[in-house]
Order: sequence, then C-alpha cells, then structure tokens
Amino acid sequence: MLPASTSASQQGSLRLTLRRLGAIKVDSESSPSGSLGLSTKAAIMSTPSENPQRAPWRDLLHSHLEQTPGYEFTISTIGYNAQQRPVPRLRTCGCRGFFPELELHPDGQEAMDQQVEGGGNPPVFESDMLSFTTDARMDKLPQLEASGHAIEAVFWLKDLMAQWRIKGTAYAIGNPSGKDAEEENTSRTEIRKALRVKGDNNSDIAKWTWEKAVTKYFANHSPVARGSFRNPPPGQPRSSAPSQPDLKLGQKVLDLHDPVARENFRVVIIRPEEVERLDLTDQENCKRWNWTLIDGSDGSRWNEMELWP
Ligand SMILES: Cc1cc2nc3c(=O)[nH]c(=O)nc-3n(C[C@H](O)[C@H](O)[C@H](O)COP(=O)(O)O)c2cc1C
Repeated sequence: MLPASTSASQQGSLRLTLRRLGAIKVDSESSPSGSLGLSTKAAIMSTPSENPQRAPWRDLLHSHLEQTPGYEFTISTIGYNAQQRPVPRLRTCGCRGFFPELELHPDGQEAMDQQVEGGGNPPVFESDMLSFTTDARMDKLPQLEASGHAIEAVFWLKDLMAQWRIKGTAYAIGNPSGKDAEEENTSRTEIRKALRVKGDNNSDIAKWTWEKAVTKYFANHSPVARGSFRNPPPGQPRSSAPSQPDLKLGQKVLDLHDPVARENFRVVIIRPEEVERLDLTDQENCKRWNWTLIDGSDGSRWNEMELWP
C-alpha cells in the first residue's frame, strides 16, 4: 500500500511547509553562543524537508515507546577488524525519542530555565528521526563516519510483543566548534533535510538554534550522568591514568555548558530509510510490516508492505 501523498489538502500542506522553511532566519549570530547557532549559509533550513508528511509508522512506534518506560534499543554500526574486514558492532543505548521533541524531566527544565535563554528552543520542529546521546570518545561515532553513517536500531518491547527495526543513517551533533567542524556541518545539513515545521510558528523559527537543541539533551541527564562525560577515556586501559586531571569517575555536573563534558557530549540522530515492525501478539498469526522510504521528484514517501513473518 502506498501512503496517499497527492491529495489536494496534502499538497496544500506541503506548499505551506515549503513556504515556512524558506522563511527561516539564516543568521548564525542569532544564537547566543554563535558557534552552534543556525548557519549563515543560504542552505540553512531553506532546504525543504524531504519527508514533508509524518511517516505512517511514526505514531504507532511513538505510542509503543510511551507505553514502555525507560526504553533502550540496540544500536548496530559497522566496524573494521585488524584485517580491515567489516564487522558488526552492537551495544545498548537509551532511546531519547524523536528529535528534537525531547520531553524534559522537571529538574532538567529547571536547569534550562536558569541557564539557557528562553528556557530552550521554541517547539517549532518535529521529525521521524530517533535520537540517543553518546560520548564522542566511544567507538560508534568513528564507525559511523567510516561506513557512510550506516546504522540499524532494534527495539524488543516485550510487554507489547513488538519488535521494531529502524535502518538508515545517523549523524552526531554537539561539537562545540559548531559548523566550523566539518562533521558537525554535515550532520546539521543531513538532519535538517528531515525536519518538519510544526503548526504556524514562523516568528519562532528564528529563535531555534542547534546549540539549544543539544543543551536540552544534556539537561535531560542527571548531574551524575552529565559527569560521565568527564570520565577517563572510555574503552582505554584502566591502568593508564588520564592525561587531563579533569577526567575522573563519579563527578556531578550542574553547569549545562561545562566545557569539559560538552567537548565529549553528542546527540546522535537516526534518519530512517527502512522500518520494520514484527507483531508476535498472536503466535498463530504473527504479523510483519515493512516501510521503505522512496525518493521521488516531489520529495520522499513511505511505501508500506505487509510481509510473511
Ligand atoms: C542500559 C544501558 C544503557 C546505555 N545507554 C547508553 C547510551 O545512551 N549511550 C551510549 O553511548 N552508551 C550507552 N550505554 C553503553 C553502551 O552499551 C556501550 O557500552 C558504550 O556506548 C560504548 O560503546 P562503543 O564504544 O561501541 O561506542 C548503555 C548501556 C546500557 C547497559
């Protein structure tokens, strides 16, 4: 089944979205920090979303996640062994929901209110992209860089007897050098292609910055979890003392702009290209669906197909 994408109302909504995206302010100096603000390049946000409609699987996955408190997913990337052969690499990560609509816990919002202009970004964007946070010193980011950003994320939501597999590409944001860092620039370019404007928020779009988006994810961590970004280098032998005296286990970070922790903190955004749902509720009639993102001249659309399980 192809999702309807050509009705008059949807075309109207697409035109409206394109108009709004064209209206986004392009001034990086509008960011309080400047370095992580919106790019001055004309391309910034004026690039229309390649996914102008909500993905047909999004609301169901969102509802499944909402029914599963503290959900984790398995993240797979491609690594290379000593013989330079590609090898799968998997690990558990905490899913942080759809970018950039993270729901902050009250302590996190209080920290944002006290330390970030306006308490954070206005809620002007939504997307079908899932997010998680990581430490730039871990292996997964170089693996993404070396493999065309390929990623697969898997949830097994036992209470719902549902498996979800999200395949696509992933990009990390949060480098304190902002768009001056090549990989940060690439990430922002790729992520913004799949951002959608919510509602009629033209005047608020200019207030939105990448810096605030990342800081919100940092604020959503407890002070001890923020402190983990000041840990000694992950994955290095414990016998070797860190060269930087700032790097210790068990630190608490209250400053949302702590330079040592923010040097290492990244938000990873997954841009889905293929999604699969396996429903094992009825063992005698298991169900499986696949959605694939198809590129078209008028943007992308999702092709839905039910499969034999
Ligand atoms: C329950 C649980 C949640 C985790 N959440 C994260 C996370 O959100 N981000 C992360 O980078 N690592 C997380 N980890 C640690 C990873 O599984 C992994 O050990 C770490 O990211 C290093 O992996 P890498 O070197 O392959 O990148 C979590 C581990 C567990 C067991």
